Amino acid sequence: MTDRDHAAADITVDVRIDRADWARHLADETARGLRDTPPWIPPVWFYDELGSKLFDEITRLPEYYPTEAERSILRAHADEIAAVTGATTLAELGSGTSDKTTLLLDALHRAGTLGRIAPLDVSEEVLRDASRALAARFPRTGVRAVVGDFHRHLDALAMDGTGLLAFLGSTIGNFEPADRARFLASVGRVLGDDDWFLLGTDLVKDPTRLVAAYDDPAGVTAAFNLNALSVMNAELGADFDPDAFRHRAVWDGAAGRIEMHLVAIRSQVVRLSVLDLELRLEPGGHLRTEISTKFRPGQVADELAAAGLRVERSWTDPAGDFLLTLARPRPRSVRR
Ligand code: SAH
Ligand code: AVI
Repeated sequence: MTDRDHAAADITVDVRIDRADWARHLADETARGLRDTPPWIPPVWFYDELGSKLFDEITRLPEYYPTEAERSILRAHADEIAAVTGATTLAELGSGTSDKTTLLLDALHRAGTLGRIAPLDVSEEVLRDASRALAARFPRTGVRAVVGDFHRHLDALAMDGTGLLAFLGSTIGNFEPADRARFLASVGRVLGDDDWFLLGTDLVKDPTRLVAAYDDPAGVTAAFNLNALSVMNAELGADFDPDAFRHRAVWDGAAGRIEMHLVAIRSQVVRLSVLDLELRLEPGGHLRTEISTKFRPGQVADELAAAGLRVERSWTDPAGDFLLTLARPRPRSVRR
């Protein structure tokens, strides 16, 4: 379904998520995760309206360095990215508020090439708000938004001319390695020979800083994590008691990732009626709610290459905390 979102502004919103189908898909994924050892849930449960607001608050915490680090790279190199790519469409996956993206959009606008903005996010309210803000800031640029799943709906992106597909914030770090490879392959397939891919990835660093970024003293990340239980209560007919869990962030050095857990503080049986499933937890037992992979130098280029994408340029912030990589498809004739 596509609708005209706003009478004056040139915004369309293509809703690719069929609510019933999406609910079934999430129910199946969650049931699969909860039957695993240890049990896990898909991180998409974080992003209801409250969760999206809490994420926004996280990005302003002093301990959560990735947002500012990536912003500083964009500030320093957005004009270079605009010049190198000459992009006419800026598409963005998991766009959220598209806040940092305005640095790229301003640069493309200054370069005189920007003609279309194509954000895609699963959170419809956040996407509609962001689309209105983008249309107000770039009144002569069409906004073609997609309410969709970045694992399934890349084909819905309305790229026009030369596309620059941005995936910022190290959201790719929230994917399991196999899902990451599948996702990058789908990016490789959706990009034309003249298109570009811009990927933000967080880098491995001192575990103390990493854990602090995911367990802040103000408790915002804890609230973000626990909110997933309330979302599942509403969407899956579950009876999680958020007071019966505590937030935990742990660094897994072997896997190179932070894991967020919800740890049971008492013995409990949780019933999820939509899944027809009972979850039994003893004190100290946990539910894994998110992985946040931190990348090693060279790893990103290798994974892009495996997906048929060649790195053209890459940059870090002065502290070397975060990496932004600009890649493009290898010509189809020479791909493996
Ligand atoms: N790009 C922004 C926001 C990152 S937060 C930044 O760099 O700060 C992750 C975003 O991905 C949220 O806006 C969330 O709604 C969205 N998201 C989560 N799962 C998704 C999925 N399966 N498909 C599309 N968007 C998703
Ligand atoms: C969206 N994603 C990249 C964030 C991250 O850092 O993995 C989500 C987040 N989880 C806790 N804090 C932020």
